[in-house]
Amino acid sequence: MKALVLAGGRGTRLRPITHTSAKQLVPVANKPVLFYGLEAIRDAGIREVGIVVSDPREMLQPDLRTGQRTTVMVNSQAEIRAAVGDGSAFGLQVAYIEQEAPLGLAHAVKISEGYMAGEPFVMYLGDNLIKDGITPFVREFEQERPNAQILLAHVKTPWEFGVAELEGDRVVRLEEKPKQPRSDLALVGVYLFDRTIFEAVHAIAPSRRGELEITDAIQFLITNGRRVRSHVISGWWKDTGKVEDMLEGNRMMLGGIELDIRGEVDTDSAIEGRVVIGPGTKVERSRLRGPLVIGANARIVDSYVGPFTALGDGVELSHCEIEHSIVLERARIHDVPRRIESSLIGKDVVVCASDARPRTHRLMLGDSSRVELS
Ligand code: G1P
Repeated sequence: MKALVLAGGRGTRLRPITHTSAKQLVPVANKPVLFYGLEAIRDAGIREVGIVVSDPREMLQPDLRTGQRTTVMVNSQAEIRAAVGDGSAFGLQVAYIEQEAPLGLAHAVKISEGYMAGEPFVMYLGDNLIKDGITPFVREFEQERPNAQILLAHVKTPWEFGVAELEGDRVVRLEEKPKQPRSDLALVGVYLFDRTIFEAVHAIAPSRRGELEITDAIQFLITNGRRVRSHVISGWWKDTGKVEDMLEGNRMMLGGIELDIRGEVDTDSAIEGRVVIGPGTKVERSRLRGPLVIGANARIVDSYVGPFTALGDGVELSHCEIEHSIVLERARIHDVPRRIESSLIGKDVVVCASDARPRTHRLMLGDSSRVELS
C-alpha cells in the first residue's frame, strides 16, 4: 500500500498568507497541517508516499522599504520540498510528483499512475486534518478489499463539499458541491483506491469548474458496478481551507497538549493550565492561560496570552492581549489597546500602536488582507 498526498492548489481562501506560503504549510498548534497527514500515513504503516506539488507561480509582491511592487516567484513546491525533504524525518520515503496546474484531484491521480505501479493507495488531501488519524480506515480497506473506500462526515454546509447519497452503507450517488445537496454527508479528503481508479480518471471529462473531479471518478466506479464502500467518521475532521477552520483546527490540536516549559518565565509572570514554551523564549510580567503553545526564541513582555493561541518561533509581544489566534514566525505585536482574538497573523507582520498625531490608522497590507477595527 502506498499513499498519495496532494499539496498543490492555490489556497485562495487563505490569502494573503498563501500569497507567500503553501496552504498545507500553515501551522496548527505550531505544526504545519501537512505534517499531521504525513504522520497519520506513517502511523497506518505506510512507507512510500508520493506528494503531488504544483509548479512555481509568478506573483506581484510589494517591496517593504520602497512600497514598489516587483514580480517574484512564489515557489510553494520548493517550500514543501524543503519542509518534508526525502521524508526520512517522518519515517517515510517521499517522492515528488509535479502537477503543471491545479487541474483537479482526479488529474493528480492520473499523473500518479506510474508511481503507484498497480498498488492500492490512500489519497490524502494535504489541507485536511483528522484528529484520530486514518489507521482504522486503512485496515478496513485491506480486509474488505473494495475497489474504493470513501470517508464521510455529517456537516452543516454540505454544498461546500462532495456529497454522498447512501442506501444502507452502499454509496449510490456522489455529487461535487451540489446546489441542492441530497444529504449532509460530505466527502472527507481521505480516499482509498485500488488500480481501477485509473480507468475512471481516464474516462471522465472536466467539470463545470474545468477540473477533473475525484467525485466524478468515484461516481464512474459506482456506475460501472465497482464496489465502493463508505465509512461515516465520528471523530473530529476539518478541511482547513478558511481562516475559521484553521483556528478551529488549532483549538482542537491544542486541546491535546501537555505542560512543557523549556524557556524562561520570570517570577512576575503567571502560568495557568497546559502551556508549551519552546527553548530560548523569555516571558516577563505576563499571564499565560493555556492551552497554548509558544515556539522557540520568542519574547512575551507585559502581555496576556489566552487559550487556544499558537505563537511561532521568534514572535515578540509586548503590552498586548491575544487569544484564540495563530501568529506565525517573527511577527511583532506591540502596545495594542484592545484584545486581539480569532486572528491569523502572518510571518514578519508588525502590529503596533503609534503616538503620532493626528490619531489615524496607518496600514500597509498585502493583497487580500483583512482587518477588522472597532
Ligand atoms: C475537495 C473535494 C470535495 C471534498 C473536499 C474535502 O474539495 O473536491 O469533494 O469534500 O475536498 O476537503 P476542495 O476543498 O478541493 O474544494
